[in-house]
Amino acid sequence: MQQTNARRALALVGALVGALIVSNAGAQATAPAPRVGSRTGQQAWSAVCANCHMPRTVGGRTRAPVGPQLQNKRTPEAEMRNIIRNGHGTMRGIPAARLADAEIAPLITYLRTFNAVR
Ligand code: HEC
Repeated sequence: MQQTNARRALALVGALVGALIVSNAGAQATAPAPRVGSRTGQQAWSAVCANCHMPRTVGGRTRAPVGPQLQNKRTPEAEMRNIIRNGHGTMRGIPAARLADAEIAPLITYLRTFNAVR
């Protein structure tokens, strides 16, 4: 009887340690996404614009972008800022809740790295 209880206790400890390891591995694999307002230009691009302006691979299938590629468009900065907030044709403006005012300047800087902005 005593031995059985000891075995049960050991099994329980083992299960708890295993669960801890698994939950910790999960936490590492899914680092929290940076919060709106504290992202770099590249992070804002990936989180807000790339979904529509870059091909997306979902479940092994690559989907064509819904918006035009922006590489080498050389859009003037004022026009780019206007498009970001107010939209363009079928693209809706991006509200501050999704892209903070403070993130627009670093986003513009990032857009310049591939000549999307003049
Ligand atoms: C929900 C999808 C979507 C998101 C998100 C989105 N766009 Fe767009 N964007 C479009 C579509 C679609 C068009 C083409 C609209 C049209 O011409 O009618 C467009 C057009 C544009 C244009 C004009 C391109 C040209 O040909 O002159 C610019 C610049 C642009 N987007 C920049 C951005 C930036 C920067 C972001 C992120 C802050 C962004 N877009 C987010 C869908 C999106």
